[in-house]
Amino acid sequence: MEKQEIRTFGRRHGKKLSIRKQNLMDNVLPTLAPKNNADILEIGFGAGEHLRALAIENPNKIVLGAEPFMNGVAALLSAICDESGAVLPEYKNIHIFPDDVRLILNNNRFAFSEIWILHPDPWPKARHEKRRLLNAEFLNILASHLTPNGKIIIGTDHWEYYDWILEQVKKTKLRCNDSTLDTIKTRYQQKNMAGTTEPKYIILSL
Ligand SMILES: C[S@@+](CC[C@H](N)C(=O)[O-])C[C@H]1O[C@@H](n2cnc3c(N)ncnc32)[C@H](O)[C@@H]1O
Repeated sequence: MEKQEIRTFGRRHGKKLSIRKQNLMDNVLPTLAPKNNADILEIGFGAGEHLRALAIENPNKIVLGAEPFMNGVAALLSAICDESGAVLPEYKNIHIFPDDVRLILNNNRFAFSEIWILHPDPWPKARHEKRRLLNAEFLNILASHLTPNGKIIIGTDHWEYYDWILEQVKKTKLRCNDSTLDTIKTRYQQKNMAGTTEPKYIILSL
């Protein structure tokens, strides 16, 4: 029997979807299900603005996004499809897993050259700390899905979580690299919920 994972995300559904978004969820989402290969993974893509940028920057690579929040998935679908519901040519390399990423990592042999996690939920209260996704066990799972030169890129504007992640990394076989990075501001970053200014990045490799 599969291990019961601790839930690392908040709600799965927000406000009722528009007719267009519901149609895209019903008819387009199933066509974008992950196949047996993908080159780049983004975990918790939110509304998908960074995932879209990855798809455009890497036209010859399959970019897989995992996100259990249905309104985020619908927002991404709406942004990558035209009025008729056809996926725009620049986004044909996007695959979507609309659920907890651990379900797909535990059951597949993907090997990614890049794994992105931008603004993972910080679960700041001490009693919620166990919900943090980027613990040592999960980082080791990510490490097992990297290509030989692959890297894990983490961004957060929550300093306490940042320090906590670095402590977790020490318990793994991963090593930290130069961590300056210029990437787009995601929706969560723009909300700047932690009240800080710039995110810090952690870049990990084997
Ligand atoms: C704070 S939001 C940040 C969203 C986006 N990356 C951004 O920067 O705007 C964290 C996201 O991670 C997602 N998430 C949390 N646990 C996850 C998991 N186990 N698998 C996939 N996504 C997860 C949540 O649903 C949420 O959308």
